[in-house]
Amino acid sequence: MKPEILLIEPMMPELEAKLDATYAVHRLAQAADRTAFIADVAPRVRGLVTGGGTGASNAILDALPKLEIIAINGVGTDAVDLMHAKEKGIRVSNTPDVLTEDVADLGMALMLAAARQIVAGDRFVRDGRWARKEAIPLARKVSGKRLGILGMGRIGRAIGKRAEGFGMQIAYTDIRAFEELPYRYVPTLLDLARESEILIIAAAGGAQSRRIVNRAVMDALGRDGILVNVARGTVVDEPALVAALSKGTLGGAGLDVFLDEPNVPLELLTLGHLVLQPHRASATVETRIAMGELVLANLAAHFSGKTLPTAVV
Ligand code: 8YV
Repeated sequence: MKPEILLIEPMMPELEAKLDATYAVHRLAQAADRTAFIADVAPRVRGLVTGGGTGASNAILDALPKLEIIAINGVGTDAVDLMHAKEKGIRVSNTPDVLTEDVADLGMALMLAAARQIVAGDRFVRDGRWARKEAIPLARKVSGKRLGILGMGRIGRAIGKRAEGFGMQIAYTDIRAFEELPYRYVPTLLDLARESEILIIAAAGGAQSRRIVNRAVMDALGRDGILVNVARGTVVDEPALVAALSKGTLGGAGLDVFLDEPNVPLELLTLGHLVLQPHRASATVETRIAMGELVLANLAAHFSGKTLPTAVV
């Protein structure tokens, strides 16, 4: 008998095929009535696979009495209540490292796109405005700028490395300084924002970081400042961000993540001086294969009684 798995968020077809080879997979995305679907499979489900941003609610965990493992197809664990999982004896794994480079790459891409107004330039050419010899405003320089990084984990560090190549002056904040890093530590986020021309958010989501990028931080970044978020929408006070961008007290933004995905505030959709992505920082073929393989490896280890390669709980 194949162990039964509840798949909350679809994966690449080739990875789902590998899942199917070993497990009986119940696909929540295909359910017309999610509650009825979960209730139907609940007595048999031993594993759950979900995305980092999607996670699984406590209601789902509580509805699955036989659940043994949650394999997160992502590095972020903030959308799963880890304490609750632990209390219930459910193991949790994630996919660190394999997506670090991609997320850092998209952070740089959003920084460049927002500062250099890549999307506006593209639209300007396509709309024939260049051909009509219209004028387009000058963009903002990136190389040599003061970059602040919020969160110096794997992804923050990978962004730092890339920014070095752009000759940027790099400073960071985190709950503590990391002496091994060649970058300047600034103890408070507000001070970091005051000193930075561009601020990239690479901090983990969850209660500790909820809405810490608030109005004061955005004001400190200033009307020429650029905010980039490749972490979680929860880290930012989104209504304050909308207000700051609308009023021009913040210069621009490059955003891959939002508070209530896939819903993006209407104001952000209509403002010109920002660049938006649909939570895509790890969404390359190469990385999604590597992430999926790690999900499979964690499941395989669990169901054969071995240590999980990338255990969280
Ligand atoms: C993915 C993520 O988009 O790693 C994370 O925490 O949010 C992203 O890499 C996601 O896990 C896939 O759903």
